[in-house]
Amino acid sequence: MGVCLSARIKAESPSHTGVNSKYVSSDGHSIASSKWSSVPPTPRSEGEILQSTNVKSFTFSELKTATRNFRPDSVLGEGGFGSVFKGWIDEHSFAATKPGTGMMIAVKRLNQESLQGHREWLAEVNYLGQLYHPHLVKLLGYCLEDEHRLLVYEFMPRGSLENHLFRRGSYFQPLSWNLRMKVALGAAKGLAFLHSAETKVIYRDFKTSNVLLDSNYNAKLSDFGLAKDGPTGDKSHVSTRVMGTYGYAAPEYLATGHLTTKSDVYSFGVVLLEMLSGRRAVDKNRPSGEHNLVEWARPYLTNKRKIFRILDNRLEGQYTLDTAYRVSALAYRCLSIESKFRPTMEEIVKELEQLQHSSNETGNVRSSSASGGRSRRRSADTYNRNRESNSSNNGNGSKCTESKSAVSYPRPLNSPLHVQVQK
Ligand SMILES: Nc1ncnc2c1ncn2[C@@H]1O[C@H](COP(=O)(O)OP(=O)(O)OP(=O)(O)O)[C@@H](O)[C@H]1O
Ligand SMILES: [Mg+2]
Repeated sequence: MGVCLSARIKAESPSHTGVNSKYVSSDGHSIASSKWSSVPPTPRSEGEILQSTNVKSFTFSELKTATRNFRPDSVLGEGGFGSVFKGWIDEHSFAATKPGTGMMIAVKRLNQESLQGHREWLAEVNYLGQLYHPHLVKLLGYCLEDEHRLLVYEFMPRGSLENHLFRRGSYFQPLSWNLRMKVALGAAKGLAFLHSAETKVIYRDFKTSNVLLDSNYNAKLSDFGLAKDGPTGDKSHVSTRVMGTYGYAAPEYLATGHLTTKSDVYSFGVVLLEMLSGRRAVDKNRPSGEHNLVEWARPYLTNKRKIFRILDNRLEGQYTLDTAYRVSALAYRCLSIESKFRPTMEEIVKELEQLQHSSNETGNVRSSSASGGRSRRRSADTYNRNRESNSSNNGNGSKCTESKSAVSYPRPLNSPLHVQVQK
């Protein structure tokens, strides 16, 4: 399989999409056709997608005002699509307001040089413009004017899970065990909603930078640029070009291009493992043999005596051996090489809910004695300081691209490399 870097190639045409409007109750459980079910179910052209979406069309000048001319000090983060800026709008009229008044928003602005960005932009409007769920980030609007492509989202005050797991600094304290489990459950509910019979969407880009957190650490999925409609009729999979992010993509999808909801389950397993271990899915700054998190961790995941080797030592004392074992075993099942052995997202939600209930009942029994106080690996903080200073050539979450040889290139720490693998 040839691999190479290309310009930001990420999304496939969403022109085939058949997303119906859905909504759920605030607990994220009940799914029903919404009052928007009159929206044409199968938008085909850009015009149809933009017409059928339920979000506001902003002018470029409105968004310029809302972000104070895209001031560099209002940048929230950078991704392969472009930069994300903080802005302000009136919560009722959505008109741009003075900073500090009205409602905070996040404005994602497509880099002008992005070749495939328009497709991705359109896929985002198509999916997020019609899907509503407490664990999906809200798209408030978009801007399509001349060469400008922007997306306007609800502001997620705690940023991405990636920052909380892997960034160091006074703002980003290590997430506690309980918060990690809460985030895992929230994200699982978001994916379960997408996979549900009524929605039938494969997300395809599940990773820590696409899980955003509100002020209460409720997780919401963002970035639907790679999302695809699931298979219809008696088909078991969708055949696509292989796209996604290295370290997160399921092996059978990489090998065959056959995409199923179980590909998302695999990616969920990778993220669960990142949460358990505090390590990135791919990290070339680790010693050899530890670059690929899944390969390194797999042998330890189902061994009660060995799982401490992979658990984030910043979590010591926050979990019971039994809970840690159950979560590791869940991650192991999600990461099954054979997709049929992976659980469904619905099953994962149930398991994580049960775990949450049982840990509420027992309280949080300390784990340090269970681990025997053994010295484990070197301090995560020391390690991460080294890694951040070396971040220019890290292998974190490389996107799959179209060319012949594996390459990595520098990107800001919080916005992993985008490459596409071609079969
Ligand atoms: N709605 C939002 N509210 C607050 N911060 C956001 C929001 N959307 C994005 N961000 C911040 O901007 C960063 C960049 O997001 P973006 O989705 O463009 O790139 P990414 O997820 O890091 O990479 P990729 O392009 O591979 O998806 C995020 O990591 C997050 O910190
Ligand atoms: Mg993203």
